[in-house]
Amino acid sequence: MKITAAAAILVTCVPSLALALVGNEWKFTKAPEAGLADITFPFNMAKAPHKSGFYFAQQFNFHGIKDVGYTGLQPREDENGKSVVHAAFSSFQAGATTKHRNCHTGADGGPGVSCAIDIKDDYSNTYNITVENIRDTTWRGTLINTVTKKADVIGEWTLPKGAGKIVNGQLGFVEYYTWNGQPSHTCDSLPYTQAVFYDPTSKTKGAEGGKITKVYEYGDCVGKAGYVVKKGTNNYDIKVGF
Ligand SMILES: *[C@@H]1O[C@H](CO)[C@@H](O)[C@H](O)[C@H]1NC(C)=O
Repeated sequence: MKITAAAAILVTCVPSLALALVGNEWKFTKAPEAGLADITFPFNMAKAPHKSGFYFAQQFNFHGIKDVGYTGLQPREDENGKSVVHAAFSSFQAGATTKHRNCHTGADGGPGVSCAIDIKDDYSNTYNITVENIRDTTWRGTLINTVTKKADVIGEWTLPKGAGKIVNGQLGFVEYYTWNGQPSHTCDSLPYTQAVFYDPTSKTKGAEGGKITKVYEYGDCVGKAGYVVKKGTNNYDIKVGF
């Protein structure tokens, strides 16, 4: 696998490399030099069981600072017969701040800001998560149900001074975070899940041709995790587990 650059980034940015199962790379064929002022990552988890444990995520980083942000969806258990969609929007950047009510300081036990919402909504619909610059170095993550058009702000955070726009090209992943902190696990105990990752888009002038360019298995369960990937016209349908 040609993941040298990818693996290096992942080692520093995703705290638990072994728990990640599938990686993807995204990139725009054209993007302004200064970066993207907004990006939309669509996801669909219609086939995912309604159980906590998996994270379907895309990462992005910013010109002028070091650490990544990430956003994505996680299934949750039904509540009172209604399905619950969990959406997260985080930054690992030291010095990032927030005043938003859905957010708190710290990300995965390190510096940064984490924001999340749980909404009672339909798994069969595709969700867009938009990450957009709202002023200076402040960014907002919004969850949009593409069928009902209902939009919910996941959160907002402010990056340190000197942070620029979003760099063209980064990675995403499917992770089973339930294994986090467990001394060991067998790959064949991985529960089944499935999610569709769509090509990213952007309204930023000069941005064109957002694509998921590559999807690959990685971590310590390669070849043993029930991984099946199907490429669609503008998406990858990714299945893991049993
Ligand atoms: C969701 O994103 C896609 C492109 O990624 C866009 O075509 C569509 O209009 C968006 N839907 C909503 C409701 O914003």
